[in-house]
Amino acid sequence: MRLLFVGDVVGRPGRNMLESHLPQLKKRYKPQVTIVNGENAASGKGITEKIYKSMLGFGAQVVTLGNHTWARNDIFAFINEEPNLIRPINYPPGVPGNGQTSVNVNGQELVVINAMGRIFMEAIDSPFQALDKAVDEARKRTPFVFVDFHGEATSEKQAMGWFLDGRASAVIGTHTHIQTADERILPGGTAYLTDVGMTGPYDGIIGMERDEVMKKMQTALPAKFEVAQGRTQLNAAFMDIDDRTGNAVKIERILLNEDHPFAE
Ligand SMILES: [Fe+2]
Repeated sequence: MRLLFVGDVVGRPGRNMLESHLPQLKKRYKPQVTIVNGENAASGKGITEKIYKSMLGFGAQVVTLGNHTWARNDIFAFINEEPNLIRPINYPPGVPGNGQTSVNVNGQELVVINAMGRIFMEAIDSPFQALDKAVDEARKRTPFVFVDFHGEATSEKQAMGWFLDGRASAVIGTHTHIQTADERILPGGTAYLTDVGMTGPYDGIIGMERDEVMKKMQTALPAKFEVAQGRTQLNAAFMDIDDRTGNAVKIERILLNEDHPFAE
């Protein structure tokens, strides 16, 4: 099973990159399922129904979220209607939306789960407990399980990779917006990458206009961040999963920007 995962799409520059580059990525990697993290898609924070639907139109089948899930009010009106828009599974019971979804891939079930870390982030329920349970449940039906683990701390993400090794087909980190170069297949067969990176502005500070970010860091005064303009990038990962075992056989990082152009 061939999976493509595109890292955190930031604002209009990110959406434009997705629209313009997904066709060539699909041509090259021939993914059967394309998953996109869209938690920054609306002006850098949250997602709207219109934007979610546009991402499906660009070729995503599942959109995952993160700490900015609730930034746009209208999410509450549509998240329960869209099974393939998932928010972190470790929110407390009663929170709208779902933390996982299933996609049918030629008669085989792929379970996609979104979870969020707790280090330097909101103190929600344990992602370890939540994923332990969800992955074990999924494995009763299918060996194909993809996890987007949205977290700040490298250590927490690495711990999750090892925690799920041999149980998830892939554990891929999101949220920091900076792609790490540690893609590997863990001994149990789980494809792992600490952070897939971000799709959007290339010259901002994790996607935002630099001046306001630098001002805030120097003064500690409140600041209003805007999505950066200018050059853009796309960050993603491709995974090939063994059709019989659900173990990963390949993971490839994808980094596209002016310094790393798409090689035909
Ligand atoms: Fe995030």
